[in-house]
Amino acid sequence: MFHPLRVSEVERLTDDSVAVTFQVPPELRETFRHIPGQHLALRRESAATGEEIRRTYSICSPAAPQGEDPVLRVGIRLVDGGEFSTYALKELAVGDTVDVMEPMGRFLLPPRPGTFAAIVGGSGITPVLSMASTLLAREPEARFCLIRSDRTAASTMFLDEVADLKDRFPDRFQLVTVLSREEQQAGLPSGRLDQERLAGLLPALLPVDEVDGWFLCGPFGLVIAAERALRGLGVERGRIHQEIFHVDDGSSPAAVRAAAIPARATLTATLDGRSGTWPVQEGESLLETVLRSRADAPYACKGGVCGTCRAFLVTGEVRMDRNYALESEETDAGYVLACQSHPVTPEVELDFDR
Ligand code: FES
Repeated sequence: MFHPLRVSEVERLTDDSVAVTFQVPPELRETFRHIPGQHLALRRESAATGEEIRRTYSICSPAAPQGEDPVLRVGIRLVDGGEFSTYALKELAVGDTVDVMEPMGRFLLPPRPGTFAAIVGGSGITPVLSMASTLLAREPEARFCLIRSDRTAASTMFLDEVADLKDRFPDRFQLVTVLSREEQQAGLPSGRLDQERLAGLLPALLPVDEVDGWFLCGPFGLVIAAERALRGLGVERGRIHQEIFHVDDGSSPAAVRAAAIPARATLTATLDGRSGTWPVQEGESLLETVLRSRADAPYACKGGVCGTCRAFLVTGEVRMDRNYALESEETDAGYVLACQSHPVTPEVELDFDR
């Protein structure tokens, strides 16, 4: 559910990114209390088409302990041709109101004792900043190693916030920055982080098998390279958590999507305790089928990335175009992403409430 929140600060981070802070009224304090790693869906009407557009942005602020007011701050980087990010960077100002959905997502690190590490690229630092700052402040024994890659120092988001963590927790926070387009001081790596480099770099930085959780966040290529490097170093799948940003939208052409759909498929869906049955139109996702009749169907990215549209497949079979949000345990348990699902059987039933 969306809530109108007032913007209390817009801070320029780099030439192409800002951090936006929202004011949370007292009655919504619990609604907007987040777990480190979660994101917010923001909504506005397109100035060009009048259609509703939604985008998800990760929360960068530390999670507030119970009893304290939550600070809700997201990082937004300009995406080429991206209507929402252009609006956020060029127009959004203190005092404006934005529709904001409560925090969501399953890329999470609730504070707990242990050693954790993250490999991030570009704006992938955003949720990890919340994870590291919350963990180090709340767990006196916990350790965090951050490996971040960016193009240049000037394009690096949250440079000051990360430096501040290093100052505050010099013994428990380890930072390695890799710049792909800039020479660094002697001893610091530069160039692109690929699978081979990570496989060599990681064991030199920390005892890989003693890390309780790995958090990979950033562009597709980096996250996949990091996952393969970790798997190659013997890290179990269950310790690797990932979130992918900036997915290329061209990976599932409509013709391919339509090919698997039975001539007349019907979808039954339960949402907030109410059910309905509708025909699935050619080429559309099951989320789009539901949205034609139920505007309250949950979604944010429509790109298979955020997991907001997760639903339980009660009957039938579906094919997903792509899935960057659900873990294999969730798909094995029967969950699907409605925004990526197309019916394979003539009848499909989804439950959004489970
Ligand atoms: S709406 Fe984001 S994964 Fe479906």
